[in-house]
Amino acid sequence: MKRLIPFQLIFVTFGFFLAKCDAVHPNEVHALIVFKEAIFDDPLLILSNWNGLDSDPCNWFLLELSRRVISLFLKASSLEIHTFLVRINISSCSIKGFIAEELFQLSSLSELILHGNNLIGPIPKEIGLLKHLKVLDLGMNQLSGRIPHEIGDLASVVKINLQSNGLTGKLPPELGNLKNLQELRLDRNKLQGTVPGANATDFASTMRGKYASDTNALGFCRASPLKVADFSFNFLVGSIPKCLEYLPRTSFQGNCIKYKDIKPRDPRQCGTF
Ligand SMILES: *[C@@H]1O[C@H](CO)[C@@H](O)[C@H](O)[C@H]1NC(C)=O
Ligand SMILES: *[C@@H]1O[C@H](CO)[C@@H](O)[C@H](O)[C@H]1NC(C)=O
Repeated sequence: MKRLIPFQLIFVTFGFFLAKCDAVHPNEVHALIVFKEAIFDDPLLILSNWNGLDSDPCNWFLLELSRRVISLFLKASSLEIHTFLVRINISSCSIKGFIAEELFQLSSLSELILHGNNLIGPIPKEIGLLKHLKVLDLGMNQLSGRIPHEIGDLASVVKINLQSNGLTGKLPPELGNLKNLQELRLDRNKLQGTVPGANATDFASTMRGKYASDTNALGFCRASPLKVADFSFNFLVGSIPKCLEYLPRTSFQGNCIKYKDIKPRDPRQCGTF
């Protein structure tokens, strides 16, 4: 980047304050309106001022917008400033409905927090479009279905919380693609299968053996170490991947994993999985 000379800096500063909020892209406004339409119960009326006709999301509740200078040319007239939506935080607001896939067109989002509501239905696979997302918190809802493999496309994500939902199916091995992930909470769902990476216990033979072409078998063992991870109270089976053995035993309790020091789920609940 070229160094800014002082008079350019003045334009940047002025532009920053003068930027009008309606610089929000109409597609982003549309995505928010579609999100609102898929919410069929909003007892606290928190989305009541999300109004497509006003198309000025600056004043809408629960959104945080950030202004960034996109391009700076020598002439002030070509100074372009865009407003981006960086955070949606709708926590403990009792909203009930589906998560519209259009929400994931908000590609500048860095935090999406919908914790503690009554959201139902699946997590749309379009979630993988959020390349700048750092925090994904859909915990404490009633989401169902599988965790989409596309979650492994969230290249910037640092924290994922999907705890206390009704999610089923296997853990996507693509979670191991997330190089920046530090915190992963998947506890209190109905997840099945093994913890991806369980087969990487013997890394060398895995690479030489029949899984040679399947790097997915390495699962979490390909990722950088998680600081916090909670897999407890699911229906997971098999063993704990060597690369996750440093986690506290409580992170795995209440599953169908048979392992010393880990409090398992009642075996009668494990029979069918
Ligand atoms: C989201 O909103 C809730 C409730 O207003 C607040 O307690 C929480 O700290 C917020 N989270 C973030 C990351 O800003
Ligand atoms: C681990 O290996 C077993 C058989 O050795 C196989 O059935 C299972 O699918 C493998 N799991 C993963 C995550 O690759």
